Amino acid sequence: MQLFDVYPLNDITITEARGSRVYDDKGQEYLDLYGGHAVISIGHTHPHYIQRLTSQLGKVGFYSNSVRIPGQVELARLLGEVSGREDYQLFLCNSGAEANENALKLASFYNGRKKIVAFRKSFHGRTSLAVAATDNPSIVAPVNATADIVFLPFNDVETLETFFAKEGSQVSSVIIEGIQGVGGINVASTAFLQAIRRLCDQYDAIFIADSVQCGYGRSGKFYSHDHSGVSADIYSMAKGMGNGFPVAGISIAPKLHPKYGMLGTTFGGNHLACAAALAVLEVIAKDGLIAHAAKLGAYWMEELRKFKQIKEVRGEGLMIGLDLGDEWKDLKKNLLAKHRIFTGESKPNVIRLLPALNLEQADADRFLEALHTEFKNS
Ligand SMILES: Cc1ncc(COP(=O)(O)O)c(C=O)c1O
Repeated sequence: MQLFDVYPLNDITITEARGSRVYDDKGQEYLDLYGGHAVISIGHTHPHYIQRLTSQLGKVGFYSNSVRIPGQVELARLLGEVSGREDYQLFLCNSGAEANENALKLASFYNGRKKIVAFRKSFHGRTSLAVAATDNPSIVAPVNATADIVFLPFNDVETLETFFAKEGSQVSSVIIEGIQGVGGINVASTAFLQAIRRLCDQYDAIFIADSVQCGYGRSGKFYSHDHSGVSADIYSMAKGMGNGFPVAGISIAPKLHPKYGMLGTTFGGNHLACAAALAVLEVIAKDGLIAHAAKLGAYWMEELRKFKQIKEVRGEGLMIGLDLGDEWKDLKKNLLAKHRIFTGESKPNVIRLLPALNLEQADADRFLEALHTEFKNS
């Protein structure tokens, strides 16, 4: 059977990984500033993570949600504490798309409405509602297309207010990434997030904070929406949550009251998934990784802004985008081939930095040196 390639492949086979380093089958070392797409939050093969997962696997790896799973209770407690949302409720699932799908569904159960407001350049996943709320028609199948999703311009308070004045009573939810990832690292403004909060309250719509990529401490706050000082009604989370183990969830405000049957899953919240998620939160809390991401990110962005070749540096914490002109379209490729540094990208010309939250300053500096070399040589 032939394999379906999910993405165009780099011709590299990673066989080992430690911290912010990965190694290929020929023993070549790479600096990982991509984290397999913002997934590696506490570094590859972290000893505490290995210990937590292997010890759980030796006891019980999986049982379904038909029995008590103590790890879920422990995870909900710790997540409530670290995220500052102790009065919220946790539903565990398996992927970012599934988390958003359930968030959008729960909002509709809450207010009985259908209309969803999403924003230009958004990405919310590939399942039916999540992909319909994603601003990329090329990945929306005819069966997913729905007139119930409205795309409005990002960070445009006036257009949002005008829309709500006309159709606010039909809006079920507003879904927004605090920092758009796939869309090119665009930070939602404080004024915009505050306007969403105000309008959702006024019209009894649900504010969904997609924190799948920008959450879990990556921005220097637990949820990147926290930079605006407002709380959302539902937070979806995934990528950094399990440091590579598939685990996701939604954190649900007390005003929503999900009932049996509204949300469900076979694999979600299994013993191993909880062990992975607990290990991640424990390391984040013990090592102060959120504050570290804020500090290192601020330093890095200040240094990056000194390069006149970069048109704009955007982001918060360790979620950073370098907006480059067309003449630098090969930079990402060269960083990998010549400097052995993995980075992410957003078409056409944005390089995305999504490293582990415990990246060291020396590694951030190694990237700056690589940029110096590339810009000098061209
Ligand atoms: C903001 C955002 N939401 C949702 C998703 C979908 O997550 P998953 O691929 O785990 O379904 C992604 C994935 O890139 C994302 O960046």
